[in-house]
Formats: sequence, structure tokens, C-alpha cells
Amino acid sequence: MASLAPQPVQDLATPQAVTPPAPILHRGKFRFPPGLKLNLPFYSFSKFFDPRNPILLFEYLAKFGRAAHYRLLWHHIVLLTDPADIREVLVDKAHLFIKERTQKRMRILLGEGLITADGETHKRHRRIAAPAFHRQRIQAYASTIVEYAAAQRDQWQPGRQIDVAAEMMRLALQITARTLFDTAVTPEIHAINDESNAVMDMYNSLVSLPRAEDLLRWHIPVPVLIRFRRSKKHLDQVVDQMIAAKQAEIAQALREGRPIGGDLLSMLIAARDENRDSPSSSKDSAAVRLSSKELRDEVLTIFLAGYETVANALSWTWLLLGQNPHAEARLHAELDSVLLDQSGNPRLPTLEDLPQLPYTEMVIAEAMRLYPPAWAMGRQATEDVEIGPYRLPKNSFVFFSQYIVHRDPRFFPDPEAFRPERFTPEAKASRPKFAYFPFGGGGRQCIGESFAWMEAILTLATLAQRWRLTLVENQTIALQPKITLRPKFGIQVTPEPRL
Ligand code: HEM
Repeated sequence: MASLAPQPVQDLATPQAVTPPAPILHRGKFRFPPGLKLNLPFYSFSKFFDPRNPILLFEYLAKFGRAAHYRLLWHHIVLLTDPADIREVLVDKAHLFIKERTQKRMRILLGEGLITADGETHKRHRRIAAPAFHRQRIQAYASTIVEYAAAQRDQWQPGRQIDVAAEMMRLALQITARTLFDTAVTPEIHAINDESNAVMDMYNSLVSLPRAEDLLRWHIPVPVLIRFRRSKKHLDQVVDQMIAAKQAEIAQALREGRPIGGDLLSMLIAARDENRDSPSSSKDSAAVRLSSKELRDEVLTIFLAGYETVANALSWTWLLLGQNPHAEARLHAELDSVLLDQSGNPRLPTLEDLPQLPYTEMVIAEAMRLYPPAWAMGRQATEDVEIGPYRLPKNSFVFFSQYIVHRDPRFFPDPEAFRPERFTPEAKASRPKFAYFPFGGGGRQCIGESFAWMEAILTLATLAQRWRLTLVENQTIALQPKITLRPKFGIQVTPEPRL
């Protein structure tokens, strides 16, 4: 549970990046870190074992030091907490790892998109999608983001309580619908949202079933499987229809000599068609373009990866601003001095303001340190592999949790305190790269990172320029670590006007 009490601002100490000594357990040719002696299910009644909150297990394991080992049935699992070891997995030895099983099993929901694909398939998808996410490309969305945030801020009423977590979800959904599909939040978008939420909930119980993929494929008449199949089918139909409509729109535009839309979907379709039509790629066209099914999987992947993460980052930011009046005042001072028109009157933020809003960015960075929307990641070794002082067998799973590493006092002294000053360029340069990795790293680093920063900064600037959100007293704030880190009971606030 998070405390609602304001937290004092303190001076920054210099972080010490000293890797602690690592006790090693030798077993044959392998070297494991210490950890749980028994197989994980034996700890079912321990305080740290709660399948609804794996962060408790990670926090417990982090006490073993640099890394901790445990077994789940016959699988070796290692939690890494040292930035150097995480870097080895994500960057230096990325070719020796694939996505771990739970993420791969998301295929039953996401098919073969960027998140679930590995190896050559992943590289091919990434090549095709990259231009759509290019920094210059996504900058075109800045005015859309501000327009939607401004509409949202016009709806809030002084003193009327709102759940800001729900509000941020609604806003991020609108922004995603517009930038991904160039549409308002239509019934189709609601259907995608609702069905994917339903599918996600079922997914949690499905992944605990052995061979869930096969059970789904074999049409076994188990209620949860029947519901899952029905929802997934509906989801696919809606996305296919939206793609077909967009393809018709593009064909029409091309016939009339008009430029095609700038939304992400148009760009993904165009990327695929350009590659197909290019004579130079005719001999290996299948290798450079997405099939219809791949396109659908990618759209669903980007839709789901892109909106809840940003919404959560913003929700936690509001909580922390409400708890930290000093930081809030500094944020307001920055917005009030930068967002002025030539007559000195307040105006909405624009893309060009971003370099002038460093504190706004630092506030979001610090919020994602304490409450990283992607709170853990995992990989599976495809062969015996050395990481730091350890040597792990083929098929071992390695996990690392942003939630844990971001609270390491070696890199973030007094880690529970909210201090945006930790993200000045100098402070950032004094830490190892993987002490802070909200967007992952290496060849699979979040493709939407620039988009996410732009959306979060412009949204916060637009809303905080007009409103101060006061936390409602005596509410319970709790973590809900699902695929993203959500506030379990929302965050209740009352808006107070600033302008
Ligand atoms: C605050 C917001 C966000 C956070 C914290 C976040 C976090 C992450 C992380 C940690 C990964 C790497 C996962 C891994 O390697 O296992 C990732 C991958 C990905 N993200 Fe994001 N993300 C955010 C926003 C977005 C947005 C806005 C989009 C798209 C519009 C997006 C699309 C993706 C995709 C497609 C991948 C898979 C990339 C690949 O494997 O090549 N994300 N994200």
C-alpha cells in the first residue's frame, strides 16, 4: 500500500554503482546464485507467495543479493537484479535468449506480433514497423494528443471527485484510436477494448492450464475456453474490418491522387504494399511484407501495448504529485513560465515546447521509476549461458523487474522518495544504463518509447496547466501487477482550478 502522506524533498546523494559480491552454488558444470531451497509450490503458504502479486516474490528474492535462483517444477528460474547482468541478457547475449513462456503464450491473444515473435520473424516485423514509429513521423501526433487532453480538461469540474486512473485510460484510449486508426472511440474501438480486457482476464487463468494453446486449438468444450475463443474471434473480426476499411480508404486516396492518412495503421499498410510493389523486392517479397493475419496481429499488439502503459504512467504521476507538493509546485512553475503566448497569456503546449519542459519530463521519469508500467520482463536461454559469475543451463528462465531494480538504493538513494531531480542529465549519466529501464533495452526495446514520452509529457502539461488534483483522504492505493502495473482501486482525486 502506498502512503498518502506528503514526502519531504531531500538532497541527492551520488549513487554508488558497486556490484555486491556474489555467493555461487556449484552444481556440475553449472553455477547458480543462492535462492529458494525447495520447489516454488512448497512456499504456497508463505507471505511472499501470492499469484496475484508476483512482486512480493521478487522482493523476497531480491534479498538474496545480485541474483536469486528457484525452481518451478523442473524449470530453473533466476531473478537478476544487477544492471550489468540485465544488460548481458538484453544486449550483449540477446541472441542466446528468446521471450519467456508466459509472454510467448500471449500468442493465443496477440498472434505473431512484435511482442510475441522471436528471431528472424521478430526482426522482419520490426523492420517493417520501424518507419511508422520514426521520431519525425510520430511528432505529427503532438497536436492530436493536446487536442484530446484539452477536451478532457474542459470536462473536469472544480471539486467534483473523479477516478483519475479511469480518466487517464479513457484519454489514452481516445489518443490511441485517433493515432493508430484515425478514428474516434467508436463502438468498434470499445469492442476491441472490452474484448481484449475480457480475453486478458481469461488469459490469466488460461496460462495456468498446461498446454492451453492445444486445448484452444482442439476446441475442448470447457466454459473458459469457449468464452475465450468467442471473444478472440470477435476481436479478430473487428480488427479485420477496420483494416479492410482502411485499405479501401487508401486505395481510394491513391486512385484520386490524394496522400494517404498519417495514422499508424495507414503507415503499416503502406509499408507492406510498398515492399510488395517494389520490383527490387519481388524475389523475396514475402520476407519484407506483412500478411493480412500478421497485420492484424501487429495492430492488436500495438493497440494493447500502447495505451494502457501510458495511461498507467500518467495515473501514478498524479498520485505522486498529490503526495509531493514541492515537486508539484515546481512543475506548475515550469508550465506557467513556458506555456505563454506573445501577450503573456496561457496557451496550450505544442511539440516545440518539449525541450523547454525538462522538469515535466523528469516528473514522469521519476513516476515510472517508482511505478514502472512494465514492471517485469523475462527471457529463456536457448543454450547453456554465462551471465556475470553464473552459468545457467539451456532453457533456464531469467527474470528482471523494473519495480525491484528501480528501487535499488545503490542507484536511487532513499528509493521510496519521489525526487524528479534524480533525472537531471548529470544524475542520469552517473548511473549504469540498466539501473533504469522502463522501456526495456537492446534490440527489443519498446518501439513506442518516443511516442510514449511525447504523449505523457504533452498530456500532463495540458492537464496540470489548468488543474491541480488533490488526493481524496483515506483511500486505499494498492498495486495490481497484471500485464501492466495498475492502481488496483483507482486513484480518487478532486480537481482544483489553477487558471
Ligand atoms: C509508458 C509507456 C510504455 C512503456 C512503459 C512500455 C514498455 C515496454 C517494454 C518494457 C517493452 C519491452 C518488453 C520486452 O522486451 O520484453 C516494450 C515493448 C514494446 N512496446 Fe512499449 N511501452 C510503452 C508504450 C508503448 C507505446 C505507446 C507503444 C505503441 C504505440 C508500444 C509498443 C510496444 C511494442 C510493439 C513492443 C514490442 C517491441 C519488440 O519486441 O520489438 N509501447 N514496451
